[in-house]
Amino acid sequence: PPSGKGTGSLTDAPKDLLKETRHLEELFTIDTPKLKEITHHFVNELTKGLSVEGGSIPMNPTWVMSRPTGHETGTFLALDMGGTNLRVCQVTLTEQKSEFDIIQSKYRLPEELKTGVAEELWGYIADCLQQFIETHHGDASKMGKHPLGFTFSYPATQNYIDEGILQRWTKGFDIAGVEGRNVVPMFEAALKQRGVPIKLTALINDTTGTLVASAYTDPKMMIGCIFGTGCNAAYMEDCGSIPKLAHLNLPPDTPMGINCEWGAFDNEGKVLPRTPYDAAIDKDSPRPGQQAFEKMIAGLYLGEIFRLIMVDLHDNSDAHLFAGQDISKLRKPYSLDSSFLSAIEEDTLEDLSETLDLFQTKLNISPSRAELGLIRRAAELIGTRAARLSACGVAAISIKKGYQSCHVGADGSVFNKYPHFKARGAQALRQILDWPDKADPKEEDPIEILAAEDGSGVGAALIAALTLRRVKDGNM
Ligand code: GLC
Repeated sequence: PPSGKGTGSLTDAPKDLLKETRHLEELFTIDTPKLKEITHHFVNELTKGLSVEGGSIPMNPTWVMSRPTGHETGTFLALDMGGTNLRVCQVTLTEQKSEFDIIQSKYRLPEELKTGVAEELWGYIADCLQQFIETHHGDASKMGKHPLGFTFSYPATQNYIDEGILQRWTKGFDIAGVEGRNVVPMFEAALKQRGVPIKLTALINDTTGTLVASAYTDPKMMIGCIFGTGCNAAYMEDCGSIPKLAHLNLPPDTPMGINCEWGAFDNEGKVLPRTPYDAAIDKDSPRPGQQAFEKMIAGLYLGEIFRLIMVDLHDNSDAHLFAGQDISKLRKPYSLDSSFLSAIEEDTLEDLSETLDLFQTKLNISPSRAELGLIRRAAELIGTRAARLSACGVAAISIKKGYQSCHVGADGSVFNKYPHFKARGAQALRQILDWPDKADPKEEDPIEILAAEDGSGVGAALIAALTLRRVKDGNM
């Protein structure tokens, strides 16, 4: 009987559970032809985003107009407003090529600020900066103004590097009165009110920071990616391929960093094989119809996709998952983050007893052996789909730019912590780009996705340095 807890084997599951597992496999598996189709569409969307008419992907010019040489120097503050934490860094780019020193403090970004009032958000950030400066520089008011690179990881229109007109909040943020406005004056007003001696030099995206920070130490780095709470990438384009900047008459070979904002890929629902669970996430999010690609990949959503599957199989399927048990804890939206899925995928024990433990302690549910099998498979399917879809974006930029061989710098909790994410992504990239099998498994792939340098700290400081240099040289 299905209810025998802790008995029965994983392979010997009741028929209805097996049926549901097969169904999940059908919904979540993306085969190679489909990956190629998605990538093909992706390449077109990248180009469309650069056109005057635009497309679904914003393809935002960032005013990062050169790669670092490794010889940048100076001391800069960097502020990282990611999606989960707030971090303040002081980065010193040393005389030694490609070397830097960093001191940093992390602050929790209170959950209620993400959906609260704008002034409170800016006030909180300014307070953190003030505290940091006071700790590390004594009496802040006696110092000159510190140049700051502000990593603001949301889609922003920039006509200059020190402005950022928020296009829309992503990653579950929902603060009224900010969308459509330049965030820099709001931020500076909060600094001024508190007398915090800071001059914002550059506003950057975390992907651009990742690209620049990685290129600082590795000249083969061509793409910067974040696979974390959100998911996105940046690369360097030639101005001649950016029709929406044609009115500026910049020389066609001028490099321009592009923040793709590829989380918005396929918002119009043309190619992505979205499941009913993806549709449910979208519908209940603060911004339905937006960030379609991101909602299938990013860390913010992976646990929620899993939770929705579990609740659905309890409520609506013949498998009656967790029949007779109280699943009220499981019903709480966003109660499982991606580290919950990581833990399931990391369970190496034959009987999945670590997963059982996790369900018992966190959710007050005791799955049967067969149910544990389904749970494990569901986690694998969600994690694998995320990694394979991510590869489509990397492949698309590589195809658009004609990169045959390069490095891609990646950062974020999913890339760094989710089990098998790297290997699954690399395998998908290999399938999409039709690379022959490697003779030696240790051999590098033509395009390798590698752990990046710290983009929101070192990258932000570097971009501030590159900006000051450009201003000094009169090339703004
Ligand atoms: C979201 C943001 C984007 C950011 C990404 C990763 O997609 O819109 O700006 O780069 O998350 O943090």
